[in-house]
Amino acid sequence: MIKPDAVSKGFIGPILSKIAEGGFSIKAMKYIQLSRGQAEAFYAVHHSRPFYEGLVEFMSSGPIVACILAKENAVEDFRAFIGSTDPEKAHEGSIRKLFGTNIQRNAVHGSDSDENAVVESNFFFSQFERF
Ligand code: CMP
Repeated sequence: MIKPDAVSKGFIGPILSKIAEGGFSIKAMKYIQLSRGQAEAFYAVHHSRPFYEGLVEFMSSGPIVACILAKENAVEDFRAFIGSTDPEKAHEGSIRKLFGTNIQRNAVHGSDSDENAVVESNFFFSQFERF
């Protein structure tokens, strides 16, 4: 996902360019605003964390871009590619370093396991929306 902070700052194009440069191809993509309930469901795994409320509020505050990306070893490579959750700790040239603001407003989300990538892909896309 490209998160609301990056979308509102006009970073959709630059982030998609970086993703293409990184060797990822796009299997599915949509531009939508999550409802509060959808953001709660998407991040349900973090329900008990102190940052959950703020995260849900932020993630439903404006449109996002959801994508399914393809590449060999895509999940692990994408997480390494985007950098640490906290943009301040992310490596130079990474998407979060370049486009993130802080640990909550960190520009992009990447699935943390192959299993979650399947769950999260199914959250956003039907089989007819994948190419
Ligand atoms: P993301 O990759 O979308 O996965 C969970 C999100 O929770 C994470 O990126 C951040 O946006 C947010 N998050 C994680 N840790 C914190 C924290 N300590 N404070 C605020 N937000 C956080």
